[in-house]
Amino acid sequence: MKVLYILAHPEPKSFNAAMKNTALTALKEKGHEAKLSDLYAMEFDPILKASDFPERKNQDFFNPFLEAIKASKTGAFSPDIKEEMEKVKWADLLIFQFPIYFTAMPAIMKGWIDRVLAPGFGFNPVTNSAYDTGLFKGKSAMLSFTTGAPKEMYSEGGAHGDIHKHLESVTHCIFEFMGMKVLPSFIVYEASAMKREKGTEELERYRKRISEL
Ligand SMILES: Cc1cc2nc3c(=O)[nH]c(=O)nc-3n(C[C@H](O)[C@H](O)[C@H](O)COP(=O)(O)O)c2cc1C
Repeated sequence: MKVLYILAHPEPKSFNAAMKNTALTALKEKGHEAKLSDLYAMEFDPILKASDFPERKNQDFFNPFLEAIKASKTGAFSPDIKEEMEKVKWADLLIFQFPIYFTAMPAIMKGWIDRVLAPGFGFNPVTNSAYDTGLFKGKSAMLSFTTGAPKEMYSEGGAHGDIHKHLESVTHCIFEFMGMKVLPSFIVYEASAMKREKGTEELERYRKRISEL
């Protein structure tokens, strides 16, 4: 299996980075191939902008949606987007690794989605290609993330509400929309307050999960 691992954490010694290391080692041990997009280390630019489209059609008015659909036909995206698109095309599975920021993924990762999983690339409104006919049919996606808050707070009836529901804007409205199968999320709750032993246990739990993919 070919796996694209997308990490959004600014600290290479963080628990999220340790999860990434654990996963990449486990994937290699199982004979899978993996590529990494370490967004902060790459200084990935999350800002969708006119220069993303070097062969921009309408110079008077910038409509990112229409430019993306046109660029998807010719591949005329900026080099940083094209590089990431090639990794996505190559991958069977996309794993998104991040700390929860305000009950969502960090902005740098959302920016990667906005720019890389562009209209016309993952779905096509012109040909009505979405969900069952999404352009990434055959691929899978998985979220792997940490929270500061305890599980009870992110459960149904808890103060924040069910975390899975909050993330449906990504798992359903982005991944399934593009035709991907969504694997169950891997969640480490209260990661910021975690003792070293608990961290080791969680990494082992993650190693097992990745090995069983
Ligand atoms: C800007 C920001 C927003 C955050 N928002 C949340 C949040 O909404 N819910 C939550 O449980 N934790 C939140 N946190 C805490 C992080 O999720 C937590 O510190 C992280 O998951 C720990 O992983 P790490 O040790 O790899 O950094 C936030 C942290 C930051 C910096």
